[in-house]
Amino acid sequence: MDLDEQARQILRKNDKGGYTLPTHGLYPYQWNWDSAFAAWGFTTFDPDRGWTELETLMSGQWDDGMVPHILFHKVDPGYFPGPDVWQGRGPIPSSGISQPPIAASFMRKMLGMDPAGEPRARAMWPQLKRWHAWFMAWRLDEGAVCITHPWEAGRDNAPDWDAAMAGIDPTGVGEYTRRDTSHVDPAMRPTKYDYDRYIKLVQTGASVNWDHAKLKEINPFRVADPTMTFTLLRAQRDLLALGQKFGEDVSDIPDWIETLEKGAETLWNAELGAYDSRDVLTGKFNGIFSNASALCWYAGIDDARAMPAIERVMDAVEYGMASYDPAAEGFEPLRYWRGPTWPIMNYLVATGMEECGQTSMADRIRSDTARLMRLNGFSEYYDPHTGAPAGGATFTWTAAVWLGWARFDHEEARGVA
Ligand code: GLC
Repeated sequence: MDLDEQARQILRKNDKGGYTLPTHGLYPYQWNWDSAFAAWGFTTFDPDRGWTELETLMSGQWDDGMVPHILFHKVDPGYFPGPDVWQGRGPIPSSGISQPPIAASFMRKMLGMDPAGEPRARAMWPQLKRWHAWFMAWRLDEGAVCITHPWEAGRDNAPDWDAAMAGIDPTGVGEYTRRDTSHVDPAMRPTKYDYDRYIKLVQTGASVNWDHAKLKEINPFRVADPTMTFTLLRAQRDLLALGQKFGEDVSDIPDWIETLEKGAETLWNAELGAYDSRDVLTGKFNGIFSNASALCWYAGIDDARAMPAIERVMDAVEYGMASYDPAAEGFEPLRYWRGPTWPIMNYLVATGMEECGQTSMADRIRSDTARLMRLNGFSEYYDPHTGAPAGGATFTWTAAVWLGWARFDHEEARGVA
């Protein structure tokens, strides 16, 4: 079977009717940013199903505007922590944190592919605006977007969070049974040290019923993050363009963009020569080059300062782009966000570069990503040195990245990026 067909079958098999699982077993629910990728992937062959995916995601929006990172549509005992631990307060059982807000950007892309979907996009626009407004109200520090739990950034165990995690006292977290390590090799997953702190943060949020004002005071974790800052900045630009097209009130959005542009600059770590995460509680940079450091172009910031570090990291591995600097202490080529290459991040990074005219690096990242899939199928992520597939298999968003982008040659990819 050819790869296009394999990718389509993965989306179909992971489709639970209205929403798509990232993969069976390891992730048995609807995840926020995975869903945006799934919607786009479906749109390449079944646009109607693509729009439904986004609508299902937005149906979990809380009354304060937040769109949760997981929607627990149907309880599955194979996943921990489930709805009983999170105790979200939305219309659908959910987690209490969000995830990188890429839905507006994918909605704009989908509309380009399927103009007939416009009424459905119009109906979602106000919901997306409320979600973006929620970030602006609750998550900013000097204009940069903060996360309140490592999972909110989508880069769950990235080294960025180590310093802030060390400041969390996990006493009283209690006994629990992890499920992730029964699905994949524990060597690829976060450690128990990390998990105790992840759960402690969930318990802290649930203890105040996810009241964001209270949480801002008591949460021991608040880190300004390039993933969030760059994706929201990009999403605001796309929301603005869509709102203008739809004749909506867009008067708030230019100010939001300006605020986020200033915020992005506060993440530039001159000593590191890269965009970095910043611990808001200590005021310190984390000193981490990650694949999120390369998202500035995706946010529309064509920054020549950022390219040398990216070139060095790309040259250090066979299949870019690594999620963590291979020369840094603690680089682990198979452990999740501490080294592996992730097709979804490659897509976001390269699309941004492409749009800003950085085509040679964009082409290089795209062809590395395509080689990984041709060699080893549609895994969650891959070893950047050997290309070995790792994490979960038959992964929705990886298949979507193939269908929407990686399968094309350079010229075609420019047309669809
Ligand atoms: C992991 C990833 C996160 C993703 C989720 C589902 O938690 O770190 O980014 O959304 O899996 O694929």
